[in-house]
Amino acid sequence: MVSLGVNIDHIATLRNARGGVEPDVIQGAIIAEKAGADAITAHLREDRRHIKDKDIELLKKTLKTRLNLEMAATEEMQKIAIKILPYSVTLVPEKRQELTTEGGLDVANQIEYLKKYIKPIQKKGIMVSLFIDADENQVIASKEIGAEYIELHTGAYAEAFGTDKEEKEFLQLKNSANLANNIGLKVNAGHGLNYQNTNKILEIDNLVELNIGHTIISKAVMIGLDMAVKEIKAIISK
Ligand code: PXP
Repeated sequence: MVSLGVNIDHIATLRNARGGVEPDVIQGAIIAEKAGADAITAHLREDRRHIKDKDIELLKKTLKTRLNLEMAATEEMQKIAIKILPYSVTLVPEKRQELTTEGGLDVANQIEYLKKYIKPIQKKGIMVSLFIDADENQVIASKEIGAEYIELHTGAYAEAFGTDKEEKEFLQLKNSANLANNIGLKVNAGHGLNYQNTNKILEIDNLVELNIGHTIISKAVMIGLDMAVKEIKAIISK
């Protein structure tokens, strides 16, 4: 069965909008675990726009499942990973101006750097996953640097879903996943997956884990709003 990694970044986005403690990221992660999440994913960005260092520390201490730390391949993040010891790190490209991770990591153009970069992380027993586009060269390069996992970027597929480009994007993901499996890489996938487009992704063989965030937090707001309004209304109406 394919596992679910719940990305909780946007609980932190909401919290940081007021600079306080609500909604609580750790409580959110615990609810996700109790609901069946197999792992919790959190992206510690260079600019700390959502998840903060303290969140990562507390998640590591609290989680009953696995912590997947998403991060850029920088020296600062390498030190943090080695200190925190998450179950896995997923290396992503990062641009300060972007709203979210826009494309996959260009592994093929930094093979030597990444090979060296992941060694001390793997030495600590942390699994390494590389977030890449569905591209044959990137899959082969990921194997070459010695990562255990790739995470296929499903953003282009999600964008194309319901249009005449959907099948092409889907086949690209499927072919990349097959190639990765054939050369001994484990395959995760994520980005832009939602309640409509996830089913088809499951047609890809041997997927290990899907990382899903924004759509879950969005739905949680809509599902929870009814009760939240009723609770405050009950206080006011007393
Ligand atoms: N996987 C990776 C590597 C990501 O960067 C993100 C977004 O932070 C996700 C999965 C989850 O994407 P979404 O929030 O669109 O579900």
